[in-house]
Amino acid sequence: MSRMQSDDRRGRVSRDLGGQTRGAASGGSGGETRDGGHQAGSRARWPFPEPAPAVHGGVDEGELRSQGIDPAAIVDFSSNQSPLGAAPSARAAAAGAVLDAYPDRNAEGLVAALAERHGVTAVQVVAGNGSTELIRLIAQIALLPDDVALSLAPSFGEYEVGTRLARARFEEVRLEPAHDASTSSGRRFVYDHQRFAAAVARLRPRLCWICSPNNPTGAVLPPDDLERSLRDFPDTLFVLDEAYCDLLSDAQWTPATLDLGNLLVLRSMTKLWGLAGLRLGYAIANVAVADALRRAKPPWNVNACAQAAGLAVLCEDDRHADAVDLLRRGRDELAAAIAALGFPVSGSAAGFFLIEVGDSAAARRVLLAHGCLIRDCTSFGLPHHVRVSPRHPEQNRRLIEGFAALAGSMRDGGTS
Ligand SMILES: Cc1ncc(COP(=O)(O)O)c(C=O)c1O
Repeated sequence: MSRMQSDDRRGRVSRDLGGQTRGAASGGSGGETRDGGHQAGSRARWPFPEPAPAVHGGVDEGELRSQGIDPAAIVDFSSNQSPLGAAPSARAAAAGAVLDAYPDRNAEGLVAALAERHGVTAVQVVAGNGSTELIRLIAQIALLPDDVALSLAPSFGEYEVGTRLARARFEEVRLEPAHDASTSSGRRFVYDHQRFAAAVARLRPRLCWICSPNNPTGAVLPPDDLERSLRDFPDTLFVLDEAYCDLLSDAQWTPATLDLGNLLVLRSMTKLWGLAGLRLGYAIANVAVADALRRAKPPWNVNACAQAAGLAVLCEDDRHADAVDLLRRGRDELAAAIAALGFPVSGSAAGFFLIEVGDSAAARRVLLAHGCLIRDCTSFGLPHHVRVSPRHPEQNRRLIEGFAALAGSMRDGGTS
């Protein structure tokens, strides 16, 4: 990590800013201007990187209203959150937060509680305005222009955005579907360590983004393979995104794994802890890596309401366990019912799972007409898959009815 503060970095960044528009060349939107010339002039002066924004699930009220759909009438199966929502204690804590003074700049109270929970020291934990903020910061501090960042794929789109904003190269190792007798449809996306290790050996990435369980496939990285990678590639920083680890029975790392020095773990409190609207996530790493992240983050990046609510939900382990239980049962029941309707479903270690539907955009439209918002996975490079995350049991029944209608419309030739 010594290169994080090196003069070499500063020299290369300023050369890059003074020279050609490499960000535009490597960014998603290429060299086209959106406003016919004005932007081209801006780019000549300021070579802003132009990564294409990542596509996300969740309710887009504008989109729904433009289709004459009342957002309040829709059940959202497209974002992966707790069916139980935010705990009342979190709402009360947020409501009681001090609004007219700056919050603790490093969220120290919350960080201490998180450190105790994970068996690490407080200096190893950094709180963020959602884990998305930390993804951007990690790319910013760890990557030099033209470095390679490697990601398992398909995966969370913010890894690519963060990488491209740092003007680094984004590379992928795709997860492949494989036979799995333990799932109702016998399919599962799997992590192939040999292929992954070969890609790391060939590309020598400065950074590896690993989401486990992975969004959207639900594939997990076996802990032994993670440790092997950490030892075999000590010059690569491995970012293990555990946004969806709640349903795993075993831990993917221990405090001793962090001592290897090249692992950074990301956690989100916006999913099963129910704080999406407040934005809260955190990173855990060894002291040197955590220090670098802490120095790079803006002060006061976690607001007072999020700090208070974060502390409150950490006393809600029973509610969290209930949410995990609801999600696990909902996933298994939904997967069995949807598979019985003839749609192949993929096994998943998370609450959400993938379903093969033919044309995923058309399937999303049919389901929306039944009041169910699902995630079209075209943006993940999976145009035949959709992803769903369970809600309450009665809402899940509505989703099964929606898939029954979809099966009917496919039989009638309405969608394929
Ligand atoms: C894999 C993964 N990591 C991180 C995030 C971002 O979480 P947060 O809300 O904490 O920024 C998401 C959100 O969808 C995600 O899917």
